[in-house]
Amino acid sequence: MSRVRIDELIAPGIAAIRPYEPGKPIEEVERELGPALPAGGVIKLASNENPLGPSPKAMEAVRIALAEVNRYPDGGTFSLRRALAASYAAHNVREEEIAVGNGSNEILDLLVRTFCGPGDEVLAPAQTFACYKLSAQARGVAYRDVPRGPDYAYDLDALARAAGSRTKIVFLANPDNPTGVYANVDAVRGLMRRLPDSVILAVDEAYFDYVTAEDYPDMLALRKERELTVALRTFSKIYGLAGLRCGWAVGPADLIAYLDRVRNPFNVSALAQAAAVAALGDGEHVERSRTLNREGMGVMTMELQRRGIRFVPSQGNFLLLDVAPRTGIEVFAALLQRGVIVRPVSSYGMPHHLRVTIGTPEENQRLLAALSAVLGVK
Ligand SMILES: Cc1ncc(COP(=O)(O)O)c(C=O)c1O
Repeated sequence: MSRVRIDELIAPGIAAIRPYEPGKPIEEVERELGPALPAGGVIKLASNENPLGPSPKAMEAVRIALAEVNRYPDGGTFSLRRALAASYAAHNVREEEIAVGNGSNEILDLLVRTFCGPGDEVLAPAQTFACYKLSAQARGVAYRDVPRGPDYAYDLDALARAAGSRTKIVFLANPDNPTGVYANVDAVRGLMRRLPDSVILAVDEAYFDYVTAEDYPDMLALRKERELTVALRTFSKIYGLAGLRCGWAVGPADLIAYLDRVRNPFNVSALAQAAAVAALGDGEHVERSRTLNREGMGVMTMELQRRGIRFVPSQGNFLLLDVAPRTGIEVFAALLQRGVIVRPVSSYGMPHHLRVTIGTPEENQRLLAALSAVLGVK
């Protein structure tokens, strides 16, 4: 029996998609290493997760919510939106201005699904977070990226100039992943002023809570200076809830209402909602996580410098290392043999780079020792 070739059925754009490469799970690497497993086990510094774990308050909330998972979750995420509005009352965030998603990833995808059709275009800086492009491609929407300045610095003038009559959404990760660079308040204001009014500016602030730069803009405040501006945040990073999947966005209420029409009815699990509400109320855990990252970043940058390993200064919880003339893949594989999982970024057009997450002090030392051994530096 002959069968239609599946690639003849595929919707436009899908065939060109290169699947997102997630960080390797610890269990998989442990299995692969088998008897060669190092004494300290396997550590994962590949997905910019919180090495401290989730807030104890969030874990307790999940335990309680578990007893009711026979019920569907609150499809309107009422308690979480109320808690978010209360937490950000200083910025006048209203409940109807908040969208909650299965990770912020779902929300950026929803933005594309809701607002882009054939002939529209999504625009973003080159070599930025892969999911903007993936979402555009999955909808058959054109994706265009705009070159950066030296040392991966954002060129927001170029981004503003590139926006044309087809541009529907501009994505800006601030700070950026995988480079760790950020755009300062003047640069973002310039972009907001210069983008055509009809363009949705989506500023992805997944790493907001790690930023130390004083001229970093908070989009919950700045969004009031421009109509079609959306800020995206997540519980996956400093809140330590990546495995539960919960992110949120703040934007004009009418725009948010359209996302609500398109999303799946129960897109955020009951456990994720309960954990997120509790995590929001655990400022101590956030503060501890922030301090751990700041100290770890200080140690890592000093030790990398001492070893002559180049890196891009970062405002996130990760660093982009330049391991030239070695390839990122080669060094990634060698680190894996030593039980350290990091992230090669060749798919971002960076064949000689690796992204490493800041871990606990012990994890950072393991990484440094492994890097020294693999790169032959002291
Ligand atoms: C810039 C950026 N945006 C969004 C996300 C996705 O986060 P979430 O887990 O909320 O989907 C990530 C995750 O790595 C990220 O780096």
